Amino acid sequence: MSRSAHPAGPRHADVLPEGHYLAPPADLNALDAKVWAQTVTRNADGVLTVGGIDVKRLAEEFGTPAYILDETDFRARARAWRTAFGNDADVFYAGKAFLSRAVVRWLNEEGLNLDVCSGGELTTALSAGMPAERIAFHGNNKSADEIERAIRAGVGRIVLDSFLEIARVAHIAQSLGKRQRVQIRVTVGVEAHTHEFIATAHEDQKFGIPLADGQAAEAVRRALQLEGLELIGIHSHIGSQIFDMSGFEVAAHRVVGLLKDIRDEHGVELPEIDLGGGLGIAYTSDDDPREPHEIAKALTEIVTRECETAKLRTPRISVEPGRAVVGPTAFTLYEVGTIKPLDGLRTYVSVDGGMSDNIRTALYDAEYSVALASRTSDAGPMLSRVVGKHCESGDIVVRDAFLPADLAPGDLIAVPATGAYCRSMASNYNHVLRPPVVAVKDGEARVIVRRETEEDLLRLDVG
Ligand code: LLP
Repeated sequence: MSRSAHPAGPRHADVLPEGHYLAPPADLNALDAKVWAQTVTRNADGVLTVGGIDVKRLAEEFGTPAYILDETDFRARARAWRTAFGNDADVFYAGKAFLSRAVVRWLNEEGLNLDVCSGGELTTALSAGMPAERIAFHGNNKSADEIERAIRAGVGRIVLDSFLEIARVAHIAQSLGKRQRVQIRVTVGVEAHTHEFIATAHEDQKFGIPLADGQAAEAVRRALQLEGLELIGIHSHIGSQIFDMSGFEVAAHRVVGLLKDIRDEHGVELPEIDLGGGLGIAYTSDDDPREPHEIAKALTEIVTRECETAKLRTPRISVEPGRAVVGPTAFTLYEVGTIKPLDGLRTYVSVDGGMSDNIRTALYDAEYSVALASRTSDAGPMLSRVVGKHCESGDIVVRDAFLPADLAPGDLIAVPATGAYCRSMASNYNHVLRPPVVAVKDGEARVIVRRETEEDLLRLDVG
């Protein structure tokens, strides 16, 4: 079915699809630990708290909407990834999920490396003290300027994404008198969706160099010949919000196959393999993500087994989780404004943000959950759609959810699992100001990215 059937907005008057996970929960006030950050709970008055601070206080001090990030949870998840993979592997946090200087410092302290994919992300990483050798530089269309900055800074690796880039990076490195460590990103013909994957010979997308038709082998041939490059490994990233490990299995099998061909042709055993990111998180109670230690065990076993079969030394593995580190650690706090019951359908609950702070629902049909945060309620369930304040009917934050029927303007509601790809994809649509990110830890809250102001808007608009 074509997605363009609803070019500017929602499916109108749709009811809950049959078999949908959503049924009114037994207890509307309950918080499913799966979707909420680690320290989130309700205090004795029923108010949602995080890091020991209640959301009414957060709203008063920082305003709404706001992304509230549980620093304890962020650090715990980062550490869990690091520990799970141990010293024989590297974890590169994918900065595209959410990047700020505070986050860079936490990552640095917790021993994670960082994947950046633009000059802006590189600058943020370097300015917060991430050692350049722990940075990987990604992107399918890096500019000459970005490449030069990355090489001059001394990034640990540049992930080459095309034949053109192999030549370009080699040339720039050589002209700077350097030899740049690089990986080649290959497309292995594995297309992963949330709950499934498709293995094909080809992948029809812009990233990487296909394994198919010997293209990746040719890329390796060229990279090995160029003086400006030190080829250290092969990179594969198969998708995002993945639950099924079998996609990684096929990818690892195909990448190890390439490593074997390289050994046979060139007598070189490349020392590294990067399996990318993409591990899924729970947005609703229906999702069942794997723990980092399970993922580490599965990936390590797959690569080790494939290498034994191919009689190769097992390369050093790296992974690039973004969403799985930061996604569950934050929620968005909104104030309820207009409430509009549509008889026989649902109630539209408008909040003071919307598609400018969370585009994922409109863009990917993503599902989210929501809870009344400023109090508990004994009222019955009300089928709701949480919408924003934008001039567009597709401006939906939570498509289908139950909220208490006594919900009123001025109540605070919270949407969990908004740590990844919400602030980082936020926009100024309708000149709505992007919300702050407030980090909470051990009873203290501080702004790590401040709220945009109207002065910020006018500063860019030079008139
Ligand atoms: N490594 C590479 C090379 C990537 O392209 C990505 C994500 C990651 C790692 C991190 O993937 P993660 O672990 O966060 O799934 N905006 C979309 C997601 C786009 C992901 C792009 N690449 C969303 O909101 O779902």
